[in-house]
Amino acid sequence: MAEISKVGILGAGLMGHGIAQVTAEAGYEVVVREVSDDKLAQGIGKIEKQLARAVEKGKAEQADADAARGRIQGTVHYRDLADCDLVVEAITEDLGLKLEMWREVDQIVKPDAYLATNTSSLPVIDQAASTGRPERFLGLHFFNPAQVMKLLEVVRCVTTSDEALAVGVDYGKKLGKLTVQTKDKAGFIVNRLLVPYTLDAIRAYEEGVGSIAEIDAAMKAGAGHPMGPLALADFVGLDTLGAICDVLFDEFRERRFAKPPTLRKMLAAGWYGRKSGTGFYDYSGEEPTPNPGL
Ligand code: 3HC
Repeated sequence: MAEISKVGILGAGLMGHGIAQVTAEAGYEVVVREVSDDKLAQGIGKIEKQLARAVEKGKAEQADADAARGRIQGTVHYRDLADCDLVVEAITEDLGLKLEMWREVDQIVKPDAYLATNTSSLPVIDQAASTGRPERFLGLHFFNPAQVMKLLEVVRCVTTSDEALAVGVDYGKKLGKLTVQTKDKAGFIVNRLLVPYTLDAIRAYEEGVGSIAEIDAAMKAGAGHPMGPLALADFVGLDTLGAICDVLFDEFRERRFAKPPTLRKMLAAGWYGRKSGTGFYDYSGEEPTPNPGL
C-alpha cells in the first residue's frame, strides 16, 4: 500500500482544525490551507489551545505537543499542498465551492496522491468525478470534535479503488479512530440517522412537547446521550445542519429530512448556533441559556 507521510487539510474551521491536529498528533506532516491569514490564524490558534489543554490535563507531554505543532504548516496557497500524499478537504458544505476548489487542487497536487472529502452528506462521486483521478478519491467523514469522537466513516464511491479505500482505513487507524466503511449514499450512516432525530426534536419543540431545556435534559437523562438534540444542533452548527437537510431532502424527498420552519427562521436571522453565539441557546453568558427569542 502507498506510504502516506504528508497530509494536506483544506480548511481550518470547526472540522479542519481538529482533523489537522489529530493528523499531526499521529505523526504525519500536515499542511493546512485556509482562504485568508485571519482564518488560518484562528484555526492554528484553536489547535495550539487544544494542545496546551492536553498538556495541562496531563494527557500529553509538552515535548509531544510541541512536536505535533511543529509538524503543522499553515498556508493560504494551494501550491504548498503539491507534495502531499493525501489531501482531505473540510471546507464549507457547498458542492459548488468544493468543485471549484478541486479544479485547482487536482492540478497542483502530485498525480499519485489520494484525495478525500469530509463532506457530511454530499454524495462523494460528484466530487470524485470532477477530478482527473476518481479512482484515488474517497470520503473520510470525521465527527465533531474530531479530537474526541472515535468514529471515522470511510466512504467508497463507485470509482474508489481498493487501494484508495485501504489508504483511508489505514490513515483512520493510525489516528486511533474506529473506521466504519459505508456506501456513498447521502448522509452515510450517522447523519442519515442523526439528522431526522435532530429535526424531530425541533418539531417536538414547535409542537410544545417540551421546552428547549426539557427536551435536551430528557434525551440526556432518558437516553444516555452526552448532549441533548438541540444543544447538539447548536454544536454542529445550524448552517451545517441546514445544508445537510437540503442535500438529504433533495436526494430522498422525504419529510423527515425537511427543514422545520423554526430552523429556517433561525438561519434567516443569522443564528448558526455556538459559532455565532446564538442558536437554541444564547452563549453570551458563562453558561448557555435557552434563546428567549424563540
Ligand atoms: N478538542 C479536544 N478535546 C476536547 C474538545 C475539543 N474540541 N472538546 C472536548 N474535549 C475533551 C475535553 O477536554 C474532555 O477531556 P477529559 O475528559 O480528558 O477532561 C472531554 O473531551 C469531555 O469534554 P468536557 O468535559 O468539556 O465536556 P463533555 O463531557 O460535555 O464532552 C463532548 C463534550 C465530547 C463534545 C460531548 O458532549 C459529546 O460527545 N457530545 C456529542 C458530540 C457529537 O455527537 N458529535 C457528533 C456530531 S455529528 C457530526 O459531527 C457529523 C457532522 O457531519 C455534522
